[in-house]
Amino acid sequence: MYSFKNDYSEGAHPNIIEALVKSNLEQTSGYGQDAYTEEAVHSIKEIVKDENVDVHLLVGGTQTNLTAISAFLRPHEAVISVETGHVCVHETGAIEATGHKVIAVPSENGKIRAGQILKVLATHTDEHMVKPKLVYISDSTEIGTIYTKAELEAISSVCKANGLYLFLDGARIGSALMCKENDLKMEDFPSLTDAFYIGGTKNGALMGEALVICNPTLKADFRYHIKQKGGLLAKGRLLGIQFAQLFKEDLFFSLATYANEMADLLRAAIKETGYEFFSESPTNQIFVIFPNEILEKLEKDFDFTIWEKIDEKRTAVRLVTSWATTRKGVESFIKALKDA
Ligand SMILES: Cc1ncc(COP(=O)(O)O)c(C=O)c1O
Repeated sequence: MYSFKNDYSEGAHPNIIEALVKSNLEQTSGYGQDAYTEEAVHSIKEIVKDENVDVHLLVGGTQTNLTAISAFLRPHEAVISVETGHVCVHETGAIEATGHKVIAVPSENGKIRAGQILKVLATHTDEHMVKPKLVYISDSTEIGTIYTKAELEAISSVCKANGLYLFLDGARIGSALMCKENDLKMEDFPSLTDAFYIGGTKNGALMGEALVICNPTLKADFRYHIKQKGGLLAKGRLLGIQFAQLFKEDLFFSLATYANEMADLLRAAIKETGYEFFSESPTNQIFVIFPNEILEKLEKDFDFTIWEKIDEKRTAVRLVTSWATTRKGVESFIKALKDA
């Protein structure tokens, strides 16, 4: 069985494991106040080309989303997200559990359009309703698509003009930035968003997300919020060591590039066979529609996610590649698909 189920099916890149082992018996300060975390924060400020951002290392995506969003909003304020957004459908109502409504809008290719934000504002007019205050987007999106720079600029300017915060979930930002179609750079985010995070879990780390707070008004007391939500790790250096390694010699970017290359090979072969894609994803997640009899054959040797039943005869599935996906695994899938 070879798995294309996820980009977190494997452990961590050897450089990270080695660094963790090497530092194992060192005694350091706790709660992210160690030299490794300092080094990671310094590297991230260099990568985003902004010394003034605040960087906090957290363990997981849901935890980062709920900690950041609940810290940024006042009790009556709400989030706008597309209905396919991770905070809408895959976080067990975590945002709502902190007291903030998530206003869901229809998605086009997993993305929100600037005009949809204005529409939500136009229909939330007074104190009998929640007040939309933060726009949540993800890049790459939950269906593998990416935002163009022009799209992000349009969303950012609508947010700025209307006093909304823009929060970008970068669980898969590595894959988004390194795919051929992308025209955004890491250094674009501090001016275009109020906060964003750089996902390590899905790009070679054992675990970890680096939250970057760009808007000065959102920075105060953030460590209190992390602690209150149970996210301040006593052994915080474990995150620092991992992010310090990820940003040494561009490891983060080369791992994402490799995952994308493996996805490109799969995508090209699927295109050749003529099956239809469920979404036009250029990143490490591929969504394809297979006839059920082909699916049954592939399922014998490969693991992937059943995404959605299209009709009685066809099903959409998700294939994900990672920094550790083997060429052999990809080639054997391609062979099996052609044989099927
Ligand atoms: C866009 C997005 N955000 C966040 C997450 C991570 O959530 P967690 O680490 O809590 O599983 C995922 C994971 O699939 C994701 O796709």
